[in-house]
Amino acid sequence: MYSIIGETVKALILAGGFATRLRPLSCSRPKTLFPIVNKPLLQWIFERLVHDGVDEAILAVNALTQFYIRQQKPPKCGLRVHFSIDPHKSPLGTAGPIRKAEKLLGHNEPFIVLNGDIFADIDYKKLIETHKKTNALATIALCRVEDPSRFGVVELCEGDCIKRFIEKPPKGQAPSNLINAGAYVLSPEVFGLIPEGRAVSIEREIFPQIVEAGRLVGCRINGLWMDIGKPAEYLEANKLLLDSISPTISKPQTSSAEIRLPVALDQGVVLGENSVIGPYAVIGKNVKIGKNVTITNSVVFSDAEIADDVQLHGVVVGEGAYIGRHANIGYGCIIADQAKVRENIYLRDGSTVCPAKEISENIL
Ligand code: GTP
Repeated sequence: MYSIIGETVKALILAGGFATRLRPLSCSRPKTLFPIVNKPLLQWIFERLVHDGVDEAILAVNALTQFYIRQQKPPKCGLRVHFSIDPHKSPLGTAGPIRKAEKLLGHNEPFIVLNGDIFADIDYKKLIETHKKTNALATIALCRVEDPSRFGVVELCEGDCIKRFIEKPPKGQAPSNLINAGAYVLSPEVFGLIPEGRAVSIEREIFPQIVEAGRLVGCRINGLWMDIGKPAEYLEANKLLLDSISPTISKPQTSSAEIRLPVALDQGVVLGENSVIGPYAVIGKNVKIGKNVTITNSVVFSDAEIADDVQLHGVVVGEGAYIGRHANIGYGCIIADQAKVRENIYLRDGSTVCPAKEISENIL
């Protein structure tokens, strides 16, 4: 446990976006509450912040996200947690919420800002230390990825100063494999660069000014890093975490079904005879699975029910959703919370079903 004597370390978590790319799953839950191996992302974030000596978290959200977080109550893990709410109908973007939370963040110390939709093993202690050592205005966590063409890539100069950003460079043309990991340490002077009362993009409006001043520094991080912006990335984050914790997973005791590790089963899961669960299946609390069901590379949220003779591959099934007997669910389908797919229904690959919708005709 790390702590800086006499200093309160604060983190602002940006979680007020609309997660449009994760619809329809995000129609009924904010991205930061998506479960990653049966634990809300926000709880993973809190745990990591506390581990690195952070005392206070400020959640920059919209009113609906605040409602969901209050309802779900992820454990605060010892953090003091505050909300800072974007104005109704006027989301503030990725920098506006920093200015809005100026009083809560204070002017005494540098503070952390992170996207509430990244699942990452970021060493915040190292990030703060690097920031202080280099007299930076902003220090960005940089993650090395194989294919940087989907991300904001950085070009570094001496002393790990950031020279420029290139947004989504064409394949093979990126100046480095280092991308903006969505976590920063900022000095309070940055408040003065952010216009008040309107949406401001930190990537497009604020970082270029800090680059100009030569005070934007990169700090490489190792370890897991996943953005859960799209359904495929969300499944991949679960898969990567299952891989990384697989030595600690013991085979659940069940006589009825076959378990192929790595698999995560939450409490109260019921498994029917001759079912095969895994590899890469994450099954939430109180899920009921019938006979002859196969589930691989999928996430099933709590209280869902999968009837007999169903195969799920690369599928996400929302909370309380129901899949009827012998339904044929294509690869990559997304079934949102409380939706119902009747028996014998065919859903072609990549179909999506909205929350609480009942599907009684094939989607061809
Ligand atoms: P898409 O609509 O799918 O692009 O998702 P998003 O806008 O929710 O996420 P994006 O990756 O663009 O944003 C990065 C992080 O900033 C996410 O954790 C968002 O919740 C958060 N964020 C984005 N826009 C806002 C905003 O206007 N206000 C606040 N408070 N947070 C935001």
